[in-house]
Amino acid sequence: MSRATSIPVLDLTRYDEALKGDIARAVGDVFASGRFVLGPAVESFEHDLAAFLGCRHVVGVSSGTDALLVALMALGVGPGDEVVTSPFTFFASGGVVARLGARPVFVDIEPAGFQLDPARLADALSERTRAIVPVHLYGQGADMGAILAVAQARGIPVLEDACQAIGATVDGRAAGAIGDLGAFSFYPTKNLGAAGDAGAVATNDDALAALLRDLRVHGAAQTYVHERVGGNFRLDAIQAAVLRAKLPRLPGWNERRRSIAALYRERLAGLERAGRLVLPAELPGRRHVYHQFVVRLRTGGRDRVRRRMAERGVATSVFYPIPLHLQACFRELGGRPGDFPEAERAAGEVLALPIFPELRDDEAARVAEALRESLEGS
Ligand SMILES: Cc1ncc(COP(=O)(O)O)c(C=O)c1O
Repeated sequence: MSRATSIPVLDLTRYDEALKGDIARAVGDVFASGRFVLGPAVESFEHDLAAFLGCRHVVGVSSGTDALLVALMALGVGPGDEVVTSPFTFFASGGVVARLGARPVFVDIEPAGFQLDPARLADALSERTRAIVPVHLYGQGADMGAILAVAQARGIPVLEDACQAIGATVDGRAAGAIGDLGAFSFYPTKNLGAAGDAGAVATNDDALAALLRDLRVHGAAQTYVHERVGGNFRLDAIQAAVLRAKLPRLPGWNERRRSIAALYRERLAGLERAGRLVLPAELPGRRHVYHQFVVRLRTGGRDRVRRRMAERGVATSVFYPIPLHLQACFRELGGRPGDFPEAERAAGEVLALPIFPELRDDEAARVAEALRESLEGS
């Protein structure tokens, strides 16, 4: 059988010419300014992103990981503290907690949307809990209303990990701008991607914003005067310029991701009815921006399905195969298989299909067909 060109999970080389021109001009302006770290290009991007999110402050930083780290530093998290998050996420959501000498405490996910389950949250809190970090996984918001209700009753700040969810909304509000702080990643594969590493923290709190700005430059409110120990979490001007050129296109790109998701949904509905897979749920009040389109395979044999899809020229991914409580580096936390059954079940069942704005409808149709064929007889 002759194979058409293969379909990757993501193709960052499919750029339109107009955008290429806008980026070249924006980068040229940075060179002309001679300001390569922070400076006016970063300030302009921070301003535009704050307007997009509808929040008071955006502080550009060096990556999504550093956005989480510096946000926890601003909340004063340190040794002896606990930070509550999901066990089913990218490593950084829990890794930053350990880096500060604090203890990550996990709360299982709700199975429909893969998000931290607010019903289990209160039981995970203690007098040492210094922050709650819900993760808006795959581009869909966590249940912020319920999470904030628990957090506010206990006076615990909420840091949203919105690294996968720029442009998503929860009850009409921008994910990442609802809690006390929100962390964003602009890693090139994200819905809004830089040309390298970049991130940002959003907040409506003036004092936290000022603290974040200090911590981003080694805790120096004035050059060479250090009130506290921070780090080098600065955002490069070139990354900010690229991001600012791309930001006006983000709503259109997210819309396109949603139409690809609708196409997948239509083509895969029969498999769901037959009990072979579960399509991603769109939870009430949430606008999903499909950073990933993730199905659950009900039949087992995920490796075999992936192999058969690869033979048909379709790449797939698994986000994430090992929950955080079972990672070797967290062994001393005492996590055991069975501790968080929903996260563990999801880790064994999830399969991410190709999704990016430039993916064509005929390619998405081929992906759905390849999944159908690969599930047959599995
Ligand atoms: C949920 C989540 N948190 C944090 C991060 C960290 O972002 P970065 O890769 O920009 O450090 C990512 C990105 O990979 C992510 O998906």
